[in-house]
Amino acid sequence: MKSEGTGVGKAGRRRDMTSTNSAPLHMIDIIRRKRDGGELDAREIAFVAAGAANGSIPEAELAAWLMTSWLKGLSLDETRALTLAMRDSGVKFSPAGLGRRAVDKHSSGGVGDKTSFLVAPLAAACGVAVPMISGRALGHTGGTLDKLEAIPGYRTALTLAEFEAVIKNCGASIIGQTDELAPADRKLYALRDRTGTVENPGLICASILSKKLAAGLDGLVLDVKTGSGAFLRRQEDAEFLAALMVATAEAAGTRTVALMTDMSQPLGRAAGNWIELVECVELLRGERPAWSEDLRELSLILAGWMIYLGGKAESAKTGYTLAEAALDDGAGLAAFMKMVDAQGGDVSVFDDMKSFHKPGATEIVAAWESGFVAEMDTTALGWAVQRTGAGREKAGEPVDPHAGILFHARRGAKIEKGQPFATVYATKPELLAEPVAILKRAIRFSKTPPEPVPLVGRVFTQENAETHLVSTPRS
Ligand code: URA
Repeated sequence: MKSEGTGVGKAGRRRDMTSTNSAPLHMIDIIRRKRDGGELDAREIAFVAAGAANGSIPEAELAAWLMTSWLKGLSLDETRALTLAMRDSGVKFSPAGLGRRAVDKHSSGGVGDKTSFLVAPLAAACGVAVPMISGRALGHTGGTLDKLEAIPGYRTALTLAEFEAVIKNCGASIIGQTDELAPADRKLYALRDRTGTVENPGLICASILSKKLAAGLDGLVLDVKTGSGAFLRRQEDAEFLAALMVATAEAAGTRTVALMTDMSQPLGRAAGNWIELVECVELLRGERPAWSEDLRELSLILAGWMIYLGGKAESAKTGYTLAEAALDDGAGLAAFMKMVDAQGGDVSVFDDMKSFHKPGATEIVAAWESGFVAEMDTTALGWAVQRTGAGREKAGEPVDPHAGILFHARRGAKIEKGQPFATVYATKPELLAEPVAILKRAIRFSKTPPEPVPLVGRVFTQENAETHLVSTPRS
C-alpha cells in the first residue's frame, strides 16, 4: 500500500458520531467536506452506503467519494460507521435458530490456501456452527468456491433458508455471497476495482466485515497473510489491517481474532482446484504427508480459535486439541462429506480421487539447479497457477477444475538438479509453457539453507488491537 491516503486518519481523536442533525444531506457536500480534510459523521456515511445499495447516488459521485476517502484515509470512527452502514444495507442472516454459536474464518487470500475445507468441518465436528461465505479466484489467489465446484453437482448458490438448513443438518455450509447480504459492498467493491481505490485499510475493513457481520456471526477468525504471496506485502500494512478489523468487529459485538500467517510459499503441496481438495481429504482421512504439514498445523490452529470463540473450548490451545482429535477419529471427514452431499455434491468422486483427475496436459518440471530452495515469489507462483487454466483473469470467466500445480519441494528443502520440482497440470498442451516459465523465474536456489519463517506470527485480539492502531506510527 502507498503511504498517502492509507492511514486511518486521526486515530486517537474521537468525535460524537451520533449526530442528530436532520438537515437534508447532499452528496456533493459530503464529497467536498471529505476532500477538504473533514471527518464525516455516521449519518453522512449511512447516506452514502444506502445510496450505493439502492442506486440513488450516481456512480460518478460514489467514485469521487471513494477517491477522496482513499486519499484522505478514513478515521477509526468513519471506518466503524461505514462497516455498520454497509452491513445494514441489505438483509441479515440470523444464526439464532442454529442453537449453537456461529463462527466463521476469513483469509486475506493466498496460493494453495485451502484451510476452509479443514477448519469448517473440524469446527463443526466440535459443535460450532460454521456459516461460511466465500469468494472466487481473482488475480493470483485461488477461490474456495471454484475449488468446491470441482466436485460435480456441488451448489455454491443457496438461498439463506437452504444455507440455514445445511448448517442445522451438517454443522457447516460453504456458499458464495448472495445478492441480499451487504449490497452496498457489491456496488462499492465493483467501483473500487475500476477506480484504483481498493488498497485502503478502512475501505477493505468495511468491505470484508460488512459481509461477515451481516451473517450474524458470534465469532470470526481472520487469517491475514504476510510474505511474498500476500496482497499486502509490507508487514506493517498487514498488521495494521488485522488490528483494524479486530477492533472494528469487536466494537460491533463480534468476538474476533486475527492471526498473521506466512505466505512466503504456497500452503501445502497443491495449488489449483480439484488437487487442493484431494490434499485436504487426504488429511481428513488421517494421512500425514510431510509436504502437507504446514497446512495441517495452520488448519488446526485456526480451527482451535474457532472452537474457542464458539464456546466449545476454554482456550484456543484446548480447541486445537479438540480439532486434532476430530481429525484423528474421522469426525472431520464425516462432517465434510455430509456437507458436500447436502449441497448436491457427488461424494463418490472421493472414492478414487486419482482417476477423477483428468488434466488436459501434464509436465513434470525437473529442478534446473542443485541447492536449497531459498526464495519463492509466491505471487508469481499464483499467476503460474492461474495461467494453467485454474484461475481467471476477469470476473465471470470459467476455471478448469483439473488444472494447477503440485509442488514437490518446499522452501528450505535441498534438491538436486534433475529431481522433480513440480508437476504442472494445464487445460491443454499450449498452456504449459507459460506457467513453467513463470515457475522457473519465481524460484531462487542457494548454497546454504534460508532462515525459516514462522507459520504464525502476531495474534491480534480485543486486548491489543486498539492499542496497536493508536500507538503504531505509520509511514
Ligand atoms: N476482500 C473483500 O471482500 N473486500 C476487499 O476490499 C478486499 C478483499
